[in-house]
Amino acid sequence: MTETIRLCPIDQPVEGEPVEVSAPGLPPLVVYEVEGAFFVTDNMCTHGHARLSDGYHNGFVIECPLHGGSFDVRTGAPKTAPCVVALRTYQAIVEDGWVTIARPAQGG
Ligand code: FES
Repeated sequence: MTETIRLCPIDQPVEGEPVEVSAPGLPPLVVYEVEGAFFVTDNMCTHGHARLSDGYHNGFVIECPLHGGSFDVRTGAPKTAPCVVALRTYQAIVEDGWVTIARPAQGG
């Protein structure tokens, strides 16, 4: 059976204010809420040393606070330069009032 990891209560992330969370064995993550749906990505920008939870969240786009590059929070795909490497994403699952993810496979 797949192990799920609780990240935050569903009322914590509000649209435009993503929440940084930590989970054992995983890099810092960020949870976004968009129109009642939740999305989870790594929090560290793939371009440099900046936390996306400090960036500007608008709909499905998160803009990095350091150089202004952006990503699609649904897929992790880079949307604007200088970001070219996709963010890792995790499928958000709502369970008992919590945003959770399945623990990624080892090495994955
Ligand atoms: S560190 Fe994020 S765009 Fe440069």
